[in-house]
Amino acid sequence: MSLTDRYNRNLNYLRVSVTDRCNLRCIYCSPHNPLPLPHEDILTYEEILRIIRTGVRLGISKVRITGGEPLVRKGIYSFLKELGRIEGISDISLTTNGVFLKDNLEKIRSAGIKRLNISMDTLNRLRFKEITGRDNFDKVWEGIMSAHEMGFDPIKINVVVLNGINDDELTELAKLSFSYPFHIRFIEYMPIGNQKLEGINQDLELLAPDIMKRISVLGILNPVENGINDGPADRYQFEGAKGEIGLIRPLSHHFCYKCNRLRLTANGHLRACLLSDKEDDIKGPLRKGCSDSELADIFLEAVRHKPFEHHVRARHSSGVSGQMSAIGG
Ligand code: GTP
Ligand code: 5AD
Ligand code: SF4
Repeated sequence: MSLTDRYNRNLNYLRVSVTDRCNLRCIYCSPHNPLPLPHEDILTYEEILRIIRTGVRLGISKVRITGGEPLVRKGIYSFLKELGRIEGISDISLTTNGVFLKDNLEKIRSAGIKRLNISMDTLNRLRFKEITGRDNFDKVWEGIMSAHEMGFDPIKINVVVLNGINDDELTELAKLSFSYPFHIRFIEYMPIGNQKLEGINQDLELLAPDIMKRISVLGILNPVENGINDGPADRYQFEGAKGEIGLIRPLSHHFCYKCNRLRLTANGHLRACLLSDKEDDIKGPLRKGCSDSELADIFLEAVRHKPFEHHVRARHSSGVSGQMSAIGG
């Protein structure tokens, strides 16, 4: 069985936002703004597992757990364990802000998760607080180090690049790839949801070619070939480095043509494209007692709705509806 869309893309990767809540308030994301979703609107773990099982029967083989911040949701570790027991998933990964990582790595590992993506937009404590609203730099850094010592691999560090805010640190961040086998991924800021940033009167946009120019002072950057199931990052490696550099360029270079993703939002909708607004309600039918085959039909419908590409060209385009934290990034 496979979920193949109208453009012959095989959608085998489901990203699941288990909560829209977050313990940070990143300026480019502003989670639960103005209010978090009511609890009854959030899928229960049982519902999420049933939806994932349906997806797996249809051909989903990769699942990423994201949020909001997935590790703030009560019961998350038991959920991850259940998820790890589903046959047919070859890859389970987690995107986290890293604040609660350090003390929970054992539980994360025992659920079968090897791949971690962690947000870290700065190496400066004060600036971390300015960007995320919380003084948690040390916790995140310790979480990253412990994950590295415990052998999680790859560890991808997500840096949202904001001109005038953290662009002076791009080389310092890129240098981490010499000391550690991390993938340092520079992400172009996307206009999605209701960001505080939109009110800031400066040009925050810094596109990938400029990012490359800045970090190339560190050495020779060679491209790394992307595997068929690799994510949106264009991959590079400095000669002599242990880790990699990734560029995620939703604005300056579309990767839609090879997109293999479907998303399950925290409030129970299947969303076929992060940057297009169309969603299919799966929670409603689920709560009305629909059968497994009816659930499967909703997946097929969502796949039919996947657009060929999104149309967001610049930060100044009108924002995409939905909250990043509920959609899952
Ligand atoms: P892997 O490739 O599985 O490691 O995951 P990833 O890089 O997609 O995951 P992550 O959760 O770390 O997301 C990194 C950045 O890529 C975030 O800013 C996401 O919002 C962005 N991103 C992920 N998927 C898509 C997508 O389908 N379209 C666009 N435009 N951006 C995406
Ligand atoms: N633009 C680009 N990336 C974003 N993220 C969150 N909001 C945005 C945005 N508006 C990133 C975070 C996190 C990943 C899942 O999504 O840095 O690492
Ligand atoms: Fe929380 Fe992630 Fe949004 Fe930051 S980007 S506020 S860590 S959900």
